[in-house]
Parts: sequence; structure tokens; C-alpha cells
Amino acid sequence: MSQSTRAQKFFEDPRIQQAKQLIADATREHQKNIGQVQGPLSEQLAQNYEESLQKLAQNRGGNLFYRYLGSGFGNGPFVELADGSVKYDFITGIGVHYFGHSHPELMGAIIDGAISNTAMQGHLQQNTDSHRLISLLLEQANINQGQFEHCFLSSSGVMAVENALKICFQKNAPTHRVLAFERCFHGRTLGVSQITDKAAYRQGLPPTLTVDYLPFYDSSDHQGSIDRTCQQLQKYLKRYPCQYSCMIMEVIQGEGGSYPGHEDFFKAIIQILKENHISVIIDEVQSFGRTKNLYAFQYFKLDQLVDVVVIGKMSQVCATLFKANHKPKPGLLSQTFTSSSTAISASYHILSTMIKENYLGEKGKIQKIHQYFSSKLKELEKKMPDKITGPYGIGAMIAMTVYNGDMELSKKFSFDLFQNGVISFMAGANPTRIRFLIPMGAIETKHIDDVVSIIERTLQQTE
Ligand SMILES: Cc1ncc(COP(=O)(O)O)c(C=O)c1O
Repeated sequence: MSQSTRAQKFFEDPRIQQAKQLIADATREHQKNIGQVQGPLSEQLAQNYEESLQKLAQNRGGNLFYRYLGSGFGNGPFVELADGSVKYDFITGIGVHYFGHSHPELMGAIIDGAISNTAMQGHLQQNTDSHRLISLLLEQANINQGQFEHCFLSSSGVMAVENALKICFQKNAPTHRVLAFERCFHGRTLGVSQITDKAAYRQGLPPTLTVDYLPFYDSSDHQGSIDRTCQQLQKYLKRYPCQYSCMIMEVIQGEGGSYPGHEDFFKAIIQILKENHISVIIDEVQSFGRTKNLYAFQYFKLDQLVDVVVIGKMSQVCATLFKANHKPKPGLLSQTFTSSSTAISASYHILSTMIKENYLGEKGKIQKIHQYFSSKLKELEKKMPDKITGPYGIGAMIAMTVYNGDMELSKKFSFDLFQNGVISFMAGANPTRIRFLIPMGAIETKHIDDVVSIIERTLQQTE
């Protein structure tokens, strides 16, 4: 009797292995032509690029933020655009391409997904690779007695957030209010856009959720900040007794401008929430995989205090993890698509590589790269104190302020930086920050040296 399925025999077929090897070899060979920032390859390509950008803007109903139309190829931190130009990608699709561009081993995992029987997996169709990924996510969530029992995959961060909210509302029915932090970002569905703290993102939408905001952690006033937020929380609890279902916490604010919170701050708030039977959701869609711990809740030592966790972006597949007492009734969660087979395979590859190859921990790659990049930005601040301040952020989330955080000047700077060959992105307001979500799996210190010198040149040119 055979111990292997037909699928296993197919995936292990020497022709498949050889084909994957050939693709990896071809990738590496073509990548030799990408190793520095470059302009368009020809005038014709530049002209086609311009036309494509205009047509795309017309078709999608708005301009792209950057003039970025990828060619579909790259080399680690370098991405080739469709005019043949090459740039450093230090924002990685807002934190998605954690291993950079055209990573040969990651492509191997993506091919495994691509040659499996279905493009998408979901509700009635989960393959063994979904099961393998869910097990890994749970195992890692529980390394410090997290006690997460369940994990539901999803195809976008905001859908995973919606699932988290539904779980808490059902558990704590009929409560209906939500607590969140000022300046938070959790996504833009009809429900979640009421929580994300940006009026423009809910303009004209009906009010689907009732949300009350608490001030986020202020590192310049540790105890004062804890006291103020807890007092505000107590006021809300008095004003609206027994009405709160959950508090959703972005423990490191990403879109808000790369602001980390603090263990003491979160623990003080959670203690009050627990006393009032209010569930705690941690949204680490952006911060997952970016601190020295895989999960940001582990970084802040909240393992036993959290009820529901949401992850996304660098994990390719998004997920909602929850504890046994938050298990919803059948029917509450279900999706035709939980994710694509390629994303599920890529996710497992990225996460297991990070764990095996020492990205995490005090001496891991994330910490080392953070320290190196921060020290280089610090040197730049010394050289040009009137133009740059910082760095800010944590792990693989690094930010700086240029021109005192003036929004228009920062925007101009980010466009000039793009033009000079480095892709960053803006975040937050008053001050606006320039942030980087680094392709950790592909980065070397020489890339950082190069990027910092391009930042310096750009600051010199924008007087
Ligand atoms: C903290 C946080 N939550 C949720 C989301 C929404 O994720 P998505 O855009 O994948 O729906 C984001 C996206 O930036 C995010 O940063």
C-alpha cells in the first residue's frame, strides 16, 4: 500500500524539481543585471511607461501615489519598473515583500503553490498547506504560553480585523461599542472605516459602529501617558456602562507614523478592560514579523492577556487567532477565499525561514539591521539637524522626520527620493514622518549605506 499521495509523488517528480531548479538558475542569471539604481532603459520604454501610467490612472479612477508600475522582476531590495528603471524598494508594498523581489527560494515555494490543484483555497476547500500554515502560526503564538487555540485565515488584513470584531461582538452580545486608540489604522471596510481614526476614510459612509478613542502612548511622558489614558478609559466606562464589546489595539502604530507603545501602558489598560469583561484585540497586521519577536504581542509580553490577534502583510496570508473562550458559533466566520495557494505556500516559506535562520531574538537579523540603519540615520541627523530628525520606530519599521514633519515638504521629499531611486512612504500627520518597511530577507548593510547616501543627496537638493 502506498504511503504517499499522488500529489506528493507529483511534487517530488524529478522533472518538477529540475524545472524549479532551471527557473531558480535563470532568475539568478538575469538578476546579475540588477544591482544598482538606474533610469529608464530607453526613450521608447519611458514613453510607453508614461502612456501606461496615464491609461491605468484613467481605468482605476485615480492616479497612483507613485509613478510605480512594476515590470514583474527584481533582485532583493531592487525592483525593476516597467520602463526598465531600477529602484531600492524600502517600503515593499507597505510591508508585503519581506524577502524583496524575485527571491529565488521564495519563488520555489510560490511555484509549489502555483502547480497545486487550485489557485484559491477557502471555505469548502483547504489543502494540507493551509493546515500546515495554521499549525505553524498557532505553534509560534503559543511559545510563551499564549494559549491560542484557533486560527482563521483570510485574504486581507481588514477582513481578518472584521472577523476579530465579529468574534468579540458575538461573545459579548449585546454590547456594541468599540474602543480604539487615537491615530489608529485598522483598514477601510464599511465597518472598520468607522474605527480607523481618519475622517476622510469614512466621508459619506453610514455610521456602522460606535467607537470611542483613547490617547496612544506618549514616550516623552511614560507615567503621565499611562495615567491619562486609564483615566479617560474609566470615564468612558462610567458614561457607557456595560456597552463595550472590545478594544482594538494597534500596538505599534504604522500608518499613524511608526509609534511603538509600551508594555506598562498596555498592561495598565488591559487590566481595566479585563475587570470590565471587555475583549482585547491586538491588530498587528503591519507589525507582525517586524520586531525581535514574531508576534508584536510577544514583544510587549501580552501573551496571556490578549484574546484575539490579527496578522497580515509580510505573512502574505492574513489571519485571526483567538483563544478557546472566544470560539464563535458555527456560521459566523466563513469565506469563499481564505487565500491563494501561492500565498499560503509563500507564507509558510517566509515564516519558517525567519524562524530557522535567526531573524528573531536579541541578536537576530531584524535587530542588527535596525541598529545599523538607525545609526546611519542618526549620523545623518548630526550632519543635517535642520533637515532630518529621528530615527523612530522599531525593528523592521523605521521612520524619520524631514523638515520638521511639514506635510507638503515631506510629500515633496518622498517624491524626490523616489525619483532619485529609493521608495519610502509617508505616515502620520503633525508631524508627518517618512517611513521604511525594510525587505528584511534581502537586505545587506551595503544597501543601507547606499540608501542613506541617496537620502542625504535628496535632502541637499530640496532646499
Ligand atoms: C494595522 C493595520 N491593520 C489593518 C490593515 C488593513 O490591511 P489590508 O490593507 O490588508 O486590508 C492595515 C493596512 O495597512 C494595517 O496597517
